Amino acid sequence: RSLGISAAIVLITSFASSPLTQAAITYPTRLGVSGNDTATIARSDSYAHPEYTLLNEELDIREKQAIQQGLYQPVGEELLGSQPFCTSNECQWQVFGSLAVCAGVADISDKLTISDPINASDVGANLNSATNGVSVHRASLPNGIFLLGGTDTFNMNMSSAVDGATRSNFLPVATSISFSRDDTRVSGAIANFFVIYTNQTSDLSRQDAVFRAVEVLFHFCVNTYSVSVSQGAVETILVNSSTVLGPSEQTSVVLRAFDESAYTVKRDDVRLLSTYLTSLFSGVYSYWYGKTGTEVTAASDALGTAMFRGKDGSGTSLGDSEEDVRVAIGNLTRNVAIGLTNSIRSAAAPTAFATGVTLSTESFVHIRWPWLAFLAVQVAMTIGFVVGVIVQTAVWKVAIVKGSGSAMATLLALSPGDRARLGQDEVGVVVPDRSARGNVEDTTATRKLHSAKARFRLGDRGWRMELAFDEGDGVSTERAVG
Ligand SMILES: *[C@@H]1O[C@H](CO)[C@@H](O)[C@H](O)[C@H]1NC(C)=O
Ligand SMILES: *[C@@H]1O[C@H](CO)[C@@H](O)[C@H](O)[C@H]1NC(C)=O
Ligand SMILES: *[C@@H]1O[C@H](CO)[C@@H](O)[C@H](O)[C@H]1NC(C)=O
Ligand SMILES: *[C@@H]1O[C@H](CO)[C@@H](O)[C@H](O)[C@H]1NC(C)=O
Ligand SMILES: *[C@@H]1O[C@H](CO)[C@@H](O)[C@H](O)[C@H]1NC(C)=O
Ligand SMILES: *[C@@H]1O[C@H](CO)[C@@H](O)[C@H](O)[C@H]1NC(C)=O
Repeated sequence: RSLGISAAIVLITSFASSPLTQAAITYPTRLGVSGNDTATIARSDSYAHPEYTLLNEELDIREKQAIQQGLYQPVGEELLGSQPFCTSNECQWQVFGSLAVCAGVADISDKLTISDPINASDVGANLNSATNGVSVHRASLPNGIFLLGGTDTFNMNMSSAVDGATRSNFLPVATSISFSRDDTRVSGAIANFFVIYTNQTSDLSRQDAVFRAVEVLFHFCVNTYSVSVSQGAVETILVNSSTVLGPSEQTSVVLRAFDESAYTVKRDDVRLLSTYLTSLFSGVYSYWYGKTGTEVTAASDALGTAMFRGKDGSGTSLGDSEEDVRVAIGNLTRNVAIGLTNSIRSAAAPTAFATGVTLSTESFVHIRWPWLAFLAVQVAMTIGFVVGVIVQTAVWKVAIVKGSGSAMATLLALSPGDRARLGQDEVGVVVPDRSARGNVEDTTATRKLHSAKARFRLGDRGWRMELAFDEGDGVSTERAVG
């Protein structure tokens, strides 16, 4: 019985074997390095403008545009860095370094000296005519840079302490207030400027003028980036930034990355960049008088708007914290630095770039072995069943029908006796051709066969088929075959 049950189980579970076998084989995809695609990204290891001559006294037009792009970028959004060239959907680069421009912002509010209220008419010339007779404060830094204003007059004044036009190349170390002489940022500095501002614009409830000041320093640095393209989307991570200076040379300054690789900046070629930045970042901003102020410049309007109109529609910095006003300066100068870095990197692009690998998706066959356990159990049960049958057959001593070709032929062969009863002329016919019955002569043998019943009986020479004929009187006679 148990043999029969196990056979039934094997049979029933075999229905499940097809879906389970399919579940055992999966075709997942993975990323493989693809040979022919290109993955490059611009990087630069030097800043040099061999085309600059005494007759060609203008900053590279692409650098000007990059600075302006950073200046007018919405202050809440970081300017995108250099974009990679990736002909596939997936590209990866090893961490790589590039010469870059960085911006440092330092708070120097404690260096400010605030005067008693001054009658604006007494200092006059520079101020808007509308401020005549208005009381202002003079907030000044040790280097002489000052803001004449207050929350309801002039809110910001920015300028540099050095005259850009007389500069030779790098920023003189002494011009910095907050960055110390030993700071490597100052040694590689391009330009600096100072921003003196009120921490808010006036509204009826907050009239107190509180002055703040920051120093902004643009300097060369070596940025280390980690870039990847995944499903077409670029991800750029600034890993770290180095300002370590190598040995100073006559004509160039060498910066070193953390991995000791060297980046050079041609001293003389910094001059035009330095002059441009210094002259750009100057001007005043007034929330109330707007563009009517005599010293309002495009750059000071952009910076003032970023600082004091941070919240859409709020009108004043009401609702903005003092921290937001300071962060806006950092955000704007960071975007200018990113723009400049992009132009330096793309200028070097035809010769210097970081090469990455492109990846393409490829599918492979994966076999989940646990899912095959079911099949293994099924096979084991089948083997068990076969062994069981063999053992049982041996135990019961079941005789085996032998035949040269087919055991069936031997089984179905008629005995000589049965053949004799069917009639001599019909020897060998076992089953009449039913489909052609109507056309075939209705012989005695066919008639007899139609009424015959066949059964198997175990004789001394093995299993034999034997016929029992219905003789027409309802009584069957049987003939055993010897
Ligand atoms: C790469 O390009 C070469 C020649 O252009 C071609 O023979 C090869 O099949 C390409 N390989 C792949 C992976 O596309
Ligand atoms: C500064 O930039 C960051 C994004 O880099 C942004 O989340 C933040 O809001 C900006 N802050 C201001 C005051 O614009
Ligand atoms: C400022 O001076 C002008 C004339 O020079 C005078 O008319 C005005 O009242 C003064 N304002 C204040 C606040 O003292
Ligand atoms: C802004 O600074 C410049 C240069 O330092 C100065 O000439 C000008 O009077 C200042 N303007 C105001 C409104 O403080
Ligand atoms: C800067 O990044 C590089 C690359 O990941 C790393 O080797 C180096 O140690 C980092 N340096 C610092 C100071 O984080
Ligand atoms: C400006 O500073 C004053 C004094 O510290 C403070 O009361 C005020 O809240 C500040 N304004 C903003 C917008 O933070």
